[in-house]
Amino acid sequence: MEVRPRRLRKTSIIRDLIAETRLSNDMFIYPYFICKGVGVVNEIKSMPGINHYSTDTLLIDVEEGLKIGINKILLFGANEMKSDNGSTAYDQNNVIGKSIRALKAKFGDDIYIITDVCLCGYTSHGHCGLIKDGYVDNDSSLEVITAMALMHAEAGADMVSPSDMMDGRVGAIREVLDDNGFENTALMSYAVKYASAYYGPFRDAADCTPQGGDRKSYQMDVRNIKEGLKEAELDELEGADILMVKPALAYLDVIKSVKDSTNLPVACYNVSGEYSMVKNAAIAGLIDEKAIVMENMYAFARAGASIIISYHTKDILKNGWI
Ligand code: PBG
Ligand code: ZN
Repeated sequence: MEVRPRRLRKTSIIRDLIAETRLSNDMFIYPYFICKGVGVVNEIKSMPGINHYSTDTLLIDVEEGLKIGINKILLFGANEMKSDNGSTAYDQNNVIGKSIRALKAKFGDDIYIITDVCLCGYTSHGHCGLIKDGYVDNDSSLEVITAMALMHAEAGADMVSPSDMMDGRVGAIREVLDDNGFENTALMSYAVKYASAYYGPFRDAADCTPQGGDRKSYQMDVRNIKEGLKEAELDELEGADILMVKPALAYLDVIKSVKDSTNLPVACYNVSGEYSMVKNAAIAGLIDEKAIVMENMYAFARAGASIIISYHTKDILKNGWI
């Protein structure tokens, strides 16, 4: 008797039969950058294939997306008015408030709307919280962050997703939502979010580069994993429904560890820098785009992510790569 693993690799049918990891179109969330104005469809230079949309063109693109199964979207406000106290973040007439209402009026529950909750797109200094004496102040930031989450829920968001990394924000948002009758609005926390250089292209897209310093006093140190598990545990205790790890590709070990330590669904965010590296290499003819993209997606699933937030979503679903 000889052990011959190649028997189970002989044809695609047998390979598919024994595949240990499977992907489905349902796993993907597609991010959108929304800006003020009318008729805007502007490609983001650092992210080929990804556009800025205004609310009207967003409705058209979402309608197209729904036809290929893109029914979970993550919204970012791109060019709102900025101030030191970030007050436009919770203005119900900002682009996010308007877009949520317009999407829900047109598509109802056919579209599942997730909103990014963070102040960096709304503060003049570009930090994810408010600054006091040169330091990003935790507790005063929570007041604005919770107001922002509540505004999104009131506008009709299905899920809010805080990405600020302030301590206690998940519990604070959950409490404000519950106190205002939004106990059914779900919460996906950016639980383990690293201070990563892979966010570079996004910061151009969302116009949220910090004007001074970096985000290392609130986002996590890339060298740590135990600290990430502590963050994930805290967010779960505070009432998160889904835990997200971000970035994804360089943090597969973290995805796996979080998956092994929780009973909540685990999501990963395949971020802008990861997307741009692959997309630009594909445009330059250096790689097989479909093969590389899907290899990455299988890696996320193999590590334990059952939810993938990715700018590749449109390519994957449109071209039937799964
Ligand atoms: C805002 C936010 C960022 C991303 C998601 N939400 C940027 C940052 O924290 O600097 C990154 C997403 C991406 O790179 O695709 N807090
Ligand atoms: Zn932020």
